[in-house]
Amino acid sequence: MSVSIRKWRIDDRFALAENLNNPKILNNLRDGLPYPYTEQDAEEFIRAMLSSDENNTFAFAITLNEKVIGSIGVFQQDNIHSQTAEMGYYIGESYWGNGYVTSAIIQVCRYVFENTDIIRIFAEPFAHNIASCRALEKAGFQYEGTLRSNAVKNGNVVDMKMYALVRE
Ligand SMILES: CC(C)(COP(=O)(O)OP(=O)(O)OC[C@H]1O[C@@H](n2cnc3c(N)ncnc32)[C@H](O)[C@@H]1OP(=O)(O)O)[C@@H](O)C(=O)NCCC(=O)NCCS
Repeated sequence: MSVSIRKWRIDDRFALAENLNNPKILNNLRDGLPYPYTEQDAEEFIRAMLSSDENNTFAFAITLNEKVIGSIGVFQQDNIHSQTAEMGYYIGESYWGNGYVTSAIIQVCRYVFENTDIIRIFAEPFAHNIASCRALEKAGFQYEGTLRSNAVKNGNVVDMKMYALVRE
């Protein structure tokens, strides 16, 4: 197994759409992504990432033996949070449970801490997203507390958990 992160390429639109066109994934993300999620949607996302400011957006494809299996990104915040960044990620369902996202989280955090002045990377999974919470913990993130009734997703009020990794 060789999990890596690399910059997006337009040709990744096929693999991205194939992996993300799944309600089990979309139900664990913020709103705003369409379902069905098409190759056109994937291309728009990739173009947006490639033209984004590379000083504050760190978006990568997750690859397994060169094949794109998912997405991970770290997004710098602003104002007093300008040295804080939010991380998000997902991989295709057929790849779940193999430690792949844990490995991608470790790699992207290393990249961000080595190449920017960011001092804190956080993630806010839904409290019921056990796999995401576990991956964060395995990657060294600290659980900082539960944000009660922090979102409404698919009509349900949900708690979220705050996890963070701070620069040592
Ligand atoms: C969450 C997600 C990214 C995890 O990716 P992954 O590559 O499967 O994660 P890993 O294999 O690195 O780690 C998952 C861990 O959770 C554990 N886990 C998964 N489901 C679990 C459950 N229901 N109960 C207990 N542990 C569970 C796995 O066993 C593994 O831990 P282990 O290595 O100690 O056994 C993936 O499931 C996904 O893309 N989900 C949909 C999108 C999403 O939730 N994105 C994150 C939004 S915050």
